[in-house]
Amino acid sequence: MDILVGLQWGDEGKGKFIDHICSQYDVVARFNGGANAGHSIYYQQQKITLKLLPSGVFYPKTLNVIGTGVVVNPIQLQEELGLLMAIDPTLEVSKRLLLSAKAHLVLPTHKYFDIVFEENPAYRTIGTTKNGIAPAYANKILRQNLRLGDVYRPQFESEFRAMVERQYSELEAFSCVLPPYAVLVDEFLAAVEFLKTLSIVDTELYVNQALKEGKKVLAEGAQATMLDIDHGTYPYVTSSSTIAGGACTGLGVSPTKVGEIFGVTKAYTTRVGEGVFPTEIFGAEAEELRQKGGEFGSNTKRPRRVGWLDLPALKYAIMMNGVTQLILTKADILNERAEVLLCTHYEVDGAIHAYFSTNLKEEHINPQFKVMEGWDFDFQNVIAKEDLPPSFIAFLHFIEQEVEVPVTFLSTGPKREEIIELPVSILN
Ligand code: GDP
Ligand code: IMO
Ligand code: MG
Repeated sequence: MDILVGLQWGDEGKGKFIDHICSQYDVVARFNGGANAGHSIYYQQQKITLKLLPSGVFYPKTLNVIGTGVVVNPIQLQEELGLLMAIDPTLEVSKRLLLSAKAHLVLPTHKYFDIVFEENPAYRTIGTTKNGIAPAYANKILRQNLRLGDVYRPQFESEFRAMVERQYSELEAFSCVLPPYAVLVDEFLAAVEFLKTLSIVDTELYVNQALKEGKKVLAEGAQATMLDIDHGTYPYVTSSSTIAGGACTGLGVSPTKVGEIFGVTKAYTTRVGEGVFPTEIFGAEAEELRQKGGEFGSNTKRPRRVGWLDLPALKYAIMMNGVTQLILTKADILNERAEVLLCTHYEVDGAIHAYFSTNLKEEHINPQFKVMEGWDFDFQNVIAKEDLPPSFIAFLHFIEQEVEVPVTFLSTGPKREEIIELPVSILN
């Protein structure tokens, strides 16, 4: 099993890369998160943003798995499948989709808890996507939640109603603005009926059997390393395990079965929501990069914060994931610049730090930059390494030497075919 993870704070271009390589895979399996993800893919000249569905849906032969580590809102799943059906019914995504019976449900009340925690001044504001992700995982850990496989049990409806009723009163106590209880419940139960028409199975058995038969499985990570619940910039993180290790727990596959670990990074950095961002830039310079890069959330449309590439954070992420191949995206957005900056290390109270650490005090981090010559060339015409100008090759080399992992794919634009495979020897 190969794994693909984001190495920054999300939106690195994971969806685009998976769509590009998944013709080489039999199975694409999401292992974490829920509809907080927004993975953009171009299909038939149209940009489509997948939230819950794995990014293998556009290849008619690829089987897509929503694994145990994912949290699923059936209303959102039904909507997304409906959208794909409207775009191209021949894709028949529902027939190529397996859902883990052990994946947890995002209940209709979870979204409102998310909103309460975000908006009530008594709680921390994280800047979440308000999809109810944290409340769903919280109820999972509390062992007070329902799973996809539960929908077949005769007592499902009564347990669901009791749970939602209790949470509804808790939300009312927060003076939360809510739809009527009956509407909330009926809408959800209608989507549960739809859910029952899909294949809810032991995905662990399926994925392990597929591997035994020599099939190729790609584990798709949502969010990214710096948003990991354990190793990210807590509390400004998501609520799941986003790193390569999370693929093993999220899918029930042994670490001994893991092959390549693809890590995706932009040539600069972006972040949506609150939290530390050592290389952030502001003002007109930031606005220009944001506009040029189209840096507005795929999921929530919020403007993304932008900054330079942060090598200490990238090294930290590569180390924890054991990345074997680096995918560099959006270098085309830095085109036409005389100079490009990279943060090589942090200076903190007189000491040098080569790696990001969550123990570093944000306001004490003084990022140190290397200024490199910029580039200006037509990324659309790049089909081989030889087409790249020396200043850009120097940029790639510098990153590889710093992080000690080869850049094996260079994404040159948002579309499926806008990517070139680089020879591993570039490192030497
Ligand atoms: P994901 O969450 O990691 O899948 O990334 P998103 O889809 O949220 O955000 C990445 C954005 O950049 C999307 O709008 C993609 O279409 C776009 N994109 C991906 N790779 C490239 C690239 O190499 N160049 C450019 N210009 N856009 C890209
Ligand atoms: P993809 O898969 C970027 C961020 C939110 C917020 C924090 C917690 O497209 O890269 P949550 O709703 O998960 O409780 O929000 O995490 N966040 C993302 N940022 N890309 C994502 O997914 C994200 N998913 C969550 O903005 O800061
Ligand atoms: Mg995204």
